Amino acid sequence: MALKFISAEEAASLVKDNDNVGFSGFTHAGCPKVVPVAIAAKAKEEHAKGNPFKIGVFTGASTGDSIDGELTRAKAIKMRTPYQTNKDMRIALNNGEFDYFDLHLSQIAQEIRYGFLGKINVAIIEACDVTETGEIVPTSGVGITPTICRLADIVIVELNKKVPTKLRGLHDLYELQDPPKRREIPIYEVQNRIGLEYVKVNPSKIYVVETDKEAEGGGFAPVDDLTARIGNNVAEFFVAELKAGRIPAHFLPIQSGVGNIANAVLGSMGNNPAIPRFEVYTEVIQDAVIEMMQQGNISFASGCSLTVSNEVLNKFYDDLSFFKNKLVLRPSEISNNPGLARRLGIISLNTAIEVDIFGNVNSTHVNGTKMMNGIGGSGDFTRNSYLSIFLTPSVAKNGAISCIVPKVTHEDHNEHSVKIVVSEYGVADLRGKGPRRRAEELIEKCAHPNYRPLLHEYLNLGVKGHIPQDLYSCFAFHHSLAETGSMINTDFSKYKQ
Ligand code: COA
Repeated sequence: MALKFISAEEAASLVKDNDNVGFSGFTHAGCPKVVPVAIAAKAKEEHAKGNPFKIGVFTGASTGDSIDGELTRAKAIKMRTPYQTNKDMRIALNNGEFDYFDLHLSQIAQEIRYGFLGKINVAIIEACDVTETGEIVPTSGVGITPTICRLADIVIVELNKKVPTKLRGLHDLYELQDPPKRREIPIYEVQNRIGLEYVKVNPSKIYVVETDKEAEGGGFAPVDDLTARIGNNVAEFFVAELKAGRIPAHFLPIQSGVGNIANAVLGSMGNNPAIPRFEVYTEVIQDAVIEMMQQGNISFASGCSLTVSNEVLNKFYDDLSFFKNKLVLRPSEISNNPGLARRLGIISLNTAIEVDIFGNVNSTHVNGTKMMNGIGGSGDFTRNSYLSIFLTPSVAKNGAISCIVPKVTHEDHNEHSVKIVVSEYGVADLRGKGPRRRAEELIEKCAHPNYRPLLHEYLNLGVKGHIPQDLYSCFAFHHSLAETGSMINTDFSKYKQ
């Protein structure tokens, strides 16, 4: 069947008010770039005529500005799930302009299939190849592509000529069956392939829009003193664990979260000769992974996206023959699968907003109210990894905020799942310790020296019980921040009974 080629504007006209639209990709990688902009323009036109126009936006994770930024600014969103990092979108969702549903990234595809989130009307997929038989080859990110392609009535393919068609073969696309028919996922080693190189859909529901848009990847900040110190602490911790036999000599697969700290930690691991070549089983493959594969420090990488700078992406495309048998891109329900995290023995590395002295972690909400990005894959991995590690600078905002607090204002990962916390000052090992010993470890090893006396004072308020939590003053740090502009002015005597 001949494919139907249309313009971005014609594609946008296929999207109706109140539709649920699923987008390919994961982070900016693999996301469509021209049709969402055309949808935003259509929304503005409809609004100018006094007509309603808002859509549900379903993605694998965050997206590029062409989706989250454009649609937010056009006030075209009624509901958004599951993760975002866009500045305009963050402001809008914190203002309550639309409903934002944050969940573990491994779950979004199945929650769509279970019908929990409503019907997906349209799927918009960036591809490097599409055939008359209905084979769609994604680009640099997968996310929920197989599920939305299968369930949507219409599949709009953005065929991006900037992405080489020889990417075919990089992806391993596999969709889980739903209970009671779900079987084990036959991945026993990081490099196992279990699915197709493409998504297959009925060609009659495909519309193709040709584009040649560049990827929307920004760069990473260069490693600075702070991130280098955190990275070195992680690397030295791994060396000690290897020596103690708690990590096997051939190492275990690493999951590493988003951002500059995670990128710097991987770099420190590569620079430490006592750490053997290792594999990566993660959701986002960042710049450091690609560089370490070229240097031979990483032997294989499995992920959901190439969340790399445009410079590194272009180098990757140029050197595809090197990477083809060393890297695989999977859907998020496989890259982030909790069962696979347990089976493969993944070591997870994620960044916290704040950590409390008892080992609970807030990854998402500043002061318990303002959404930063979302939980992402941090919960998928933390709860199920062989060893879960959280990274955090000891302070934020030039020391006005301690990232180690008496009690987190929002809890994404609890004391039962969090094993190791690393700041630029050291490594707190929470394994096998009760609440009071965990608190002493976290204060002495990770907190900024300026905040240690205050945290000890809180711990020694004299509260009885298994967890010595004082419900009157546990948020005194945050009160002090709100009232004086810094947590350092905390006065626990104000809360005395
Ligand atoms: N209170 C208030 N603000 C804080 C803070 C705190 N305790 N800790 C950090 N911040 C601010 C920083 O000052 C910075 O602000 P800025 O953007 O105005 O400069 C911002 O939060 C980001 O912090 P930064 O230190 O630059 O870290 P990051 O970019 O690595 O992001 C998270 C940290 C936690 C927001 C990010 O890792 C995240 O969204 N995690 C959840 C999802 C996840 O873990 N995904 C990975 C799974 S694979």
